[in-house]
Amino acid sequence: MKMLVTGGAGFIGSNFIRFILTKYPHYAVINFDKLTYAGNLENLRDVEHHPNYSFVKGDILNTELLIHVMKDVDVVAHFAAETHVDRSILGADAFVQTNVIGTYSVMEAARQTKVKRFHHISTDEVFGSLGPDGYFTEDTPYDPRSPYSAAKAASDHLVRAYYHTHGLPATISNCTNNYGPYMFPEKMMPLFITNLLEGKKVPLYGDGLNVRDWIHVDDHNRAVDLIIHEGKVGETYCISAREEKTNREVTDLVLQKMGFGPDMIEYVEDRKGHDRRYAIRPYKLMAELGWKPAISFDQGLSQMIEWYKNNPEWWKRVRSGEYQNYYAKQYGQKTGITI
Ligand code: NAD
Ligand code: TYD
Repeated sequence: MKMLVTGGAGFIGSNFIRFILTKYPHYAVINFDKLTYAGNLENLRDVEHHPNYSFVKGDILNTELLIHVMKDVDVVAHFAAETHVDRSILGADAFVQTNVIGTYSVMEAARQTKVKRFHHISTDEVFGSLGPDGYFTEDTPYDPRSPYSAAKAASDHLVRAYYHTHGLPATISNCTNNYGPYMFPEKMMPLFITNLLEGKKVPLYGDGLNVRDWIHVDDHNRAVDLIIHEGKVGETYCISAREEKTNREVTDLVLQKMGFGPDMIEYVEDRKGHDRRYAIRPYKLMAELGWKPAISFDQGLSQMIEWYKNNPEWWKRVRSGEYQNYYAKQYGQKTGITI
């Protein structure tokens, strides 16, 4: 089995590659990544010499390169995207380019090279914002409200269109907020943990009562693996560990686990158009594929905090934007093919 992972140097993609190479050491895994500010090959330092792993530095907008790399590829797991909502509010260009046109480009290459499976990784944010009640499921109509979620929604529609029009053997998953190791410290959880490790306050938006539904990245990746291997072509699967929390609840837990009090919270101006609540009921995934989450929020958060405590070089370099130079110096060309 030969698998191409786009965006494999990012947070979820790098954890996915590690998971796949551990579970299926005989699979050949190609990591195709542009190495934007969010892509970091240090995330894969422990597997970079695995005989079945290779890296190709490339932009998913480059269809020709993708066609070249996808020869003999059986499965494409498409993670590459611009992912930070706040950045999409500051400027949507890269979001439209990578998430919409980039997804079109990856699918076009997959169609032309006749891959057997194309899995598109998406988000619950495409469904919009919930009030205090109700949940998103596979049948929820799309209602994206940020440039990030609108671009992801457009990509989901394109994937369905390619399945219906061209018979692309595609599946889609919409997952809730992930957390875990190697998460870029611009998103709330790693930003707060690394701020506290540096003795800085944590900036909580608005009233702190927006709700997110948290899942450990390993539980997300186990679901993606299951969908790729056992999911039905043409289907969408919603993924959630059903761990709904207000941002204030998450912040209090982080503070408590790290030995700080609420005086370290700084309430700051709210995000523009801040979605109030996301929550998924993943009954289809549970009933049809037998998936269930294995890591509780409490346990996963403790593990995450320990990981950031034990890996200060990683997040300090990432926070200072130095890692690309660092990578070039440390690893040079050692990570396999680079076209
Ligand atoms: P991330 O920002 O950490 O990583 C994105 C990766 O994509 C980086 O390695 C980056 O270099 C690469 N990339 C960006 N533009 C590219 C381009 N044009 N060509 C090639 N590579 C490019 O993102 P993440 O949090 O790991 O998210 C991965 C996927 O999961 C995304 O599709 C995202 O929408 C989805 N998702 C994320 C979450 C979450 O909580 N983080 C939740 C649900 C779904
Ligand atoms: P984030 O990690 O950016 O993920 P998303 O917007 O995709 O859900 O934000 C998670 C929640 O935390 C969201 O409600 C916004 C809030 N937040 C803060 O309160 N302060 C921050 O500094 C950040 C980055 C986010």
